[in-house]
Amino acid sequence: MEQREIKEFIDDKVREIKEAVGSHKAIVALSGGVDSSTCALLAHRAIGNMLKAIFIEDGLMREGEAKRVLKTFSNLGIKVEVIEAQDEFFETLKGKFDPEEKRKAFRDIFYRVLGREVKRSGASHLIQGTIKADIIETERGVKTQHNILEQIGIDPERYGFSVVEPLKDLFKHEVREVARELGLPREVYQRMPFPGPGLAARIIGEVTPDRVDLVRRATKIVEDVLGPLSPFQAFAVLLNDLGTGIVEGKRRLGKIIIIRSVESKDAMTAEPTCVPWEMLLYLSKKITTEIPEVVRVAFEITSKPPSTIEYV
Ligand code: XMP
Repeated sequence: MEQREIKEFIDDKVREIKEAVGSHKAIVALSGGVDSSTCALLAHRAIGNMLKAIFIEDGLMREGEAKRVLKTFSNLGIKVEVIEAQDEFFETLKGKFDPEEKRKAFRDIFYRVLGREVKRSGASHLIQGTIKADIIETERGVKTQHNILEQIGIDPERYGFSVVEPLKDLFKHEVREVARELGLPREVYQRMPFPGPGLAARIIGEVTPDRVDLVRRATKIVEDVLGPLSPFQAFAVLLNDLGTGIVEGKRRLGKIIIIRSVESKDAMTAEPTCVPWEMLLYLSKKITTEIPEVVRVAFEITSKPPSTIEYV
C-alpha cells in the first residue's frame, strides 16, 4: 500500500470503529502478535479509554509473552489486564488427539473465556484482528481458524457480543505497514505470525502442560537461532511418536522435534527456508542438549501446499 492509502485506511477504520461502538465499551484480546496489536491501537484511537485491552493467558503462548505484551502497551499508554485461564484451556484440551477437534475445542473455550470477560467489563463489542487469509482459508475448509465465526455461520451473539474486524480486508504484509504507521515498535510489526491456538497448533497428539512446556523451550531455541535469517515463521513441532535414542550408552525412547522454517508473503503459500547446514546441526545439538527428553530432531522441507505451515 502507498503511504497515502495507509493513512486513509487508518482514518476510515477509526471512523468505522467509532460508529460501530458508539458510546459503548469495546474489548480487545491481545495475543502479542501484529494483528491484535494493530486492532488495539486503531480502537484506542477511536474510543480511547472506552477500550478495554486484555491478554488471555491460555498456557499456550511463547515464553515471556504476557510480560512482553504488558510492557509494549504500557509504553504506548494502554493498560492491559491479564486473565489467567490456563487451567480451563488444558482441561478442555485434555484427552483430545484429533487436529480439528483440538481446534474446535480451543475456539470454544477461547470464546467462552472471552465472552465472560466481555460481560464482566460491560463491553458490547469485540475488536478482533481477523485478516483476509484467515477468512479465505477457513471458508475453503483448509482449517478451522480459531477467530472465524460469522463467516462460517456462528453468530457471535451466542457468546454475548458483536464483532468488529477492522483488518479483514488486509493480508499480513499490509497489516505490518498499518502497524508501523500507527507507531507500534519494530519488534511487534516485524514479528513472526503466531497461530491463535498457540503452541497447541504445533503439538501432534494430546496438549498437556508438560508437552507444551517442551515445545515452548524448543520454540525459543529455534526462534533465537534462526532469528538472524528473518524467516517468515520458524518454530518447533512436537510429534506424538517416540524414537529410539542412546542416553549414557543405553537405548532410550525419546521425543521427536521437527524444526519448521518457512518463507512466505501472505501465508497462503510458503517455501521452506534455505537454512545453512551448520545452523541445522547446531540447532539439533542445542535442542538435544538443553532438552534431554528429545532424542531426535528433523528439519521439515515441505512447501505449502501440500503442507500447511502449522501442523494442526
Ligand atoms: P497454515 O498452518 O494454515 O497457517 O498454513 C497460515 C498462517 O496462519 C497462522 N495460523 C493462525 N492464525 N489463528 C490465527 O490467528 C489460527 O487459528 C491460525 N492457524 C494458523 C499460521 O501461523 C500461519 O502464519
